[in-house]
Amino acid sequence: MSTQIEIDLQNIGTMVPFVTGLHCGCGQSWKHNWLNTDSQTFIGSNGIQTVPGTLFSPVGYQRNEFYYLQHDALDPFPLPDNLFANCYSEHFIEHLTRDQGLIFLQEVHRLLCPGGILRISTPNLIDKVELYLNPERPEYLQDVEFLNDRVPAHFPRNRAFMFNQLFYLWGHQWIYDFEDLSLLIEQAGFPTSSIQRCAFQEGKIADLENLDHPSRQADGLYVEAVKA
Ligand SMILES: C[S@@+](CC[C@H](N)C(=O)[O-])C[C@H]1O[C@@H](n2cnc3c(N)ncnc32)[C@H](O)[C@@H]1O
Repeated sequence: MSTQIEIDLQNIGTMVPFVTGLHCGCGQSWKHNWLNTDSQTFIGSNGIQTVPGTLFSPVGYQRNEFYYLQHDALDPFPLPDNLFANCYSEHFIEHLTRDQGLIFLQEVHRLLCPGGILRISTPNLIDKVELYLNPERPEYLQDVEFLNDRVPAHFPRNRAFMFNQLFYLWGHQWIYDFEDLSLLIEQAGFPTSSIQRCAFQEGKIADLENLDHPSRQADGLYVEAVKA
């Protein structure tokens, strides 16, 4: 039975022992034991609808449970500083402009406790540039196959379209390469020396790396940083 937990979010520390970290821009991909957040409204099986600023959970605080907070990541999170040991976001930051991305990363920096780890997965600009230059690569055909069900047939599947869809479909606002994303993470307050490019499902801790979804692997840029 889904329910909303009416609690003062400033006292959310009571819940923290039950969550592994903050999962931003989760969409429908809610993770067990994480505080999942997204701007979308969701409706539970019993018709209960999520409400901005109110914690939503199937049963309440306990291990192996889902938690959801409906929240627009452009606004400050209604949560205290230094709260979470980890923060994860997968294919979310590219939906923000670069300036908005900085605001989001500054918030994440505030919410992480010292030593807390941020892991970001986002499409990699360089991968698409390489496919534009080398359309004979199997990954190019995989992209075409993926798009076939999702965009009208009259769009060409040529190199120009395949490159432009990265920017103009899906609501994407900014596409990063490692250098650019590192600069933004550093500007948000993370030490340069802590910023590290990672491979798919490889990182500092299993709790974070295991969240990478295989469907994102082909064009994934994976970056971690640690709050000082
Ligand atoms: C491509 S989906 C990714 C969902 C999920 N992370 C995944 O990989 O399947 C992008 C998500 O970002 C969310 N989003 C976009 N702008 C947002 C904002 N300003 N605040 C919170 N969520 C936002 C959307 O609602 C959507 O669920």
